[in-house]
Amino acid sequence: MNDPSMYARRRAQLATLMEDGVAVLRTAPERARNRDSSYPFRFDSYFHYLTGFPEPEAVMVLCAGNTPKSILFCREKDIEREIWDGFRYGPDRARDVFGFDETFPIAKIDELLPQLLANQRAVFCDVGADPGWDQQVIGWINKVRTQVRSGVSAPGEIRDIRRILDDMRLVKDEHEIAIMKRAAAISSQAHRRAMSATRPGMHEYELEAELIHEFRRQGAQSPAYTSIVAGGANACVLHYVQNDAVLNAGDVVLIDAGCELDGYASDITRTFPVSGKFSGPQRDIYQLVLSAQAAAVAQVKPGNEWEAPHDAAVKVLAQGMVDLGLCNGSADGVIESGDYRRFYMHRTGHWLGMDVHDAGDYKRDGAWLALKPGMVLTVEPGCYVRPGEGVPEKFWNIGVRIEDDALVTGSGCEIITSAPKFIDEIEALMRR
Ligand code: GLY
Ligand code: MN
Ligand code: MN
Repeated sequence: MNDPSMYARRRAQLATLMEDGVAVLRTAPERARNRDSSYPFRFDSYFHYLTGFPEPEAVMVLCAGNTPKSILFCREKDIEREIWDGFRYGPDRARDVFGFDETFPIAKIDELLPQLLANQRAVFCDVGADPGWDQQVIGWINKVRTQVRSGVSAPGEIRDIRRILDDMRLVKDEHEIAIMKRAAAISSQAHRRAMSATRPGMHEYELEAELIHEFRRQGAQSPAYTSIVAGGANACVLHYVQNDAVLNAGDVVLIDAGCELDGYASDITRTFPVSGKFSGPQRDIYQLVLSAQAAAVAQVKPGNEWEAPHDAAVKVLAQGMVDLGLCNGSADGVIESGDYRRFYMHRTGHWLGMDVHDAGDYKRDGAWLALKPGMVLTVEPGCYVRPGEGVPEKFWNIGVRIEDDALVTGSGCEIITSAPKFIDEIEALMRR
């Protein structure tokens, strides 16, 4: 069980940053997959960050001001339902376990929430995230409005709570970093397992199964996103998720997969030869992407702008594309014209945390954010060569991405993922 004081601390920090007003945040709804069958429940990341409370049908209310108060609405104990669906905390137990000042049954929310909103200046919520929920919040505010003649005032502002929470989530605390390191370690082992298992003639989904096996075997709850296992030309489809093709001996396979552990994502991409040995052209592209990644990682340090790793990767890739005959002219010219985008069309990374593409701005007031210790980001350059006019045929259908997760430290960064990525390392592992 997590330490409830950690969540209480985050709520206290949020209350300070709100100054006054009331925050109203619900967890994610359960979603039907098809008749009588739901998607696995996944809490809302903001809600979980502030509560640690794992059940659906729950709402957190935080009253800021001189004496902040945090309240949880949740399902009541229900022995009959618990026989079918499992344990529920119920309000009394939830108050003690999760460190709330008050807890109430969720069935009481329509009655109690207008009272909590009365005479408050502002409501903070994730406005715009879900129209149905927006309507519910507005309904509670309107209910307060009906009481104005008895001297009650309704909140005059609805403010986006994510403006505050995104900044909080952007810099990870020790507890978060510990989970993220463990998630990264599990995912690294899953990639190692998939590499070791690879044989020509297997299907992509058989490698996906190896990944999932390792995730679950080590206690991760699920993949953090749909795993990509893309052999041959499929590696040039950036969001390929069919994972049902046969792996051919002459191809490389790109795997982009990471587990989610206790609400935190990891995100790793590795590319390796199905046969266990890179061909000459595969080696050329692979080594180029590896060099681009090293150049990008060297720019992940406090004080550097968000864009610095991307710029460094693009510089190396553009030069390499010229050297390999993929682009014409000079590296600077290729960057200037954007020609490199034909083979490298995505960004070099994103924030990583509870969400795989995590909360947080990248640019503010026209300037890229500066990196700070405690931030976690991916570094994931790639090169994807589709067949085309003027493209040397030996490189056709080679798609390579190498992705690691970086924690910004006081002096630079720590790469928290560790699956093999150097050519001799990969080939040695696959020979065994
Ligand atoms: N796996 C998603 C990404 O790399 O951004
Ligand atoms: Mn990524
Ligand atoms: Mn990825």
